[in-house]
Amino acid sequence: MNVKSLKLSQLPTPINKLEILSEELGQNLWIKRDDLTGFAFGGNKTRKLDLLIADALDRKYDTLVAVGANQSNFCRIVAAYGSRYGLATHLVLGGMKPDNPTGNLRVAHIYGAIVHHYDTSDWERLEEKSRQLSKELFKQGKKVYLLPIGGSTPLGSSGYIEAIKEIKDFESENNISFDKLFVVAGSGGMQAGLIVGKVLYKWPGAIIGISVSWAKPEQEKIIYSLAKEIAKIYHVEIDRKQIIIDDNYIGPGYGQSTPEAEAAIKLFAQKEGIMLDSYYTGKGAAGLLDYIEQSKVSSQENILFLHSGGNIQLFE
Ligand SMILES: Cc1ncc(COP(=O)(O)O)c(C=O)c1O
Repeated sequence: MNVKSLKLSQLPTPINKLEILSEELGQNLWIKRDDLTGFAFGGNKTRKLDLLIADALDRKYDTLVAVGANQSNFCRIVAAYGSRYGLATHLVLGGMKPDNPTGNLRVAHIYGAIVHHYDTSDWERLEEKSRQLSKELFKQGKKVYLLPIGGSTPLGSSGYIEAIKEIKDFESENNISFDKLFVVAGSGGMQAGLIVGKVLYKWPGAIIGISVSWAKPEQEKIIYSLAKEIAKIYHVEIDRKQIIIDDNYIGPGYGQSTPEAEAAIKLFAQKEGIMLDSYYTGKGAAGLLDYIEQSKVSSQENILFLHSGGNIQLFE
């Protein structure tokens, strides 16, 4: 497949051993630093947006509309691509307009995004608002590229296929093989892309998605249908069994932290100097730590944790 990419992501992202945590937890732990993809403070969304914005530019769109919560990492990075490429960027955000924008929202303002706030956490309502806004902009003569939550279209999600190739390259260069890859599943695009990468590159490891949004049956359905669509483009087949979701670490809900996530944030910061966030990677790490504590992974296994970014939220 020849997919155009803007290549603003700094790739391959490093893979490092978590030396101190490995020693203290009695588990060989490694981390893939997708928080270091670079552009607009980095994170998993640059792999998707390198492809999506290339597509928008190719097809001569002039306006971006994206949906998310006030602290959306995705919307922060969309705003950066929009300003970088001269595309007007509208963000439809769930959450009250704060007197003083902080964290991701502050950064989106710095990039010059036009922000529309709606005091709701109902995703369908927000998507509806974004469709309405797109229609209004269309009537004004704008060519609107509408980005769904998390940029999780088949094209955007396919940005994660190559991450598996990077992991395989690292394995062969360092004579190691990872048994399990832990990732966070929000809108599901990252995991869907990784699963297609796993099949395409015949990577034998298991990909465990710690859901931060939907319950297991729904999240599995979303990721399976997305992975199937991407797989069709790449002429491979997905087995539903390859989609492994654990929904035990969501806590009270999407965008709300848990004591376990906060403890994981402190542990990674104090032991390894690595910053996670409260809504995504903190919960993913909490899941990983629980698997180790409960011996749901064998102590002989090599475990890789994908740090998908998000730590700007710490300045919320
Ligand atoms: C930091 C971070 N990690 C993980 C995810 C989840 O990625 P996906 O929505 O592709 O499942 C997101 C999504 O917004 C994110 O911002």
